[in-house]
Amino acid sequence: MNKEELVSKAKEARKLSYSPYSHFAVGAAILTKDGKVFLGANIENSSYPLCMCAERNAIYNAYLNGYKKEEISALALIADTEEPCSPCGACRQVISELLKEDAPIYMANMKGEIKETNAKELLPFAFSGDDLQ
Ligand code: THU
Repeated sequence: MNKEELVSKAKEARKLSYSPYSHFAVGAAILTKDGKVFLGANIENSSYPLCMCAERNAIYNAYLNGYKKEEISALALIADTEEPCSPCGACRQVISELLKEDAPIYMANMKGEIKETNAKELLPFAFSGDDLQ
């Protein structure tokens, strides 16, 4: 599956967004090395801090189906943004722990623009489990 196809899966996931408060729908998709796709969308709550981002839902979906970072090959996310949508800080921390640091992350928008990055670029000098030793 190429990056355009993974972004189109994220676009499908975006339709599942529950975002009545922000009206900002985000979709995400994880591709595994054996070709499976796990979707995520942002799910909001009237108690705002409980809102969960699309990227984290997609990553947790993959993990809950038995996949770990070594078996994950890419993440795509999409929203209706001027520039390709960039993961929030909380998601960057989760991405840095649960995806390989060089796994491609495709940030996209509804205009068809795609920008490629990875966990290392998104969160240099990340805090990690090693710091707890
Ligand atoms: N959101 C995401 O799902 N991913 C991001 O990377 C940025 C923000 C969601 C959270 C909230 O539901 C809405 O977008 C507005 O912040």
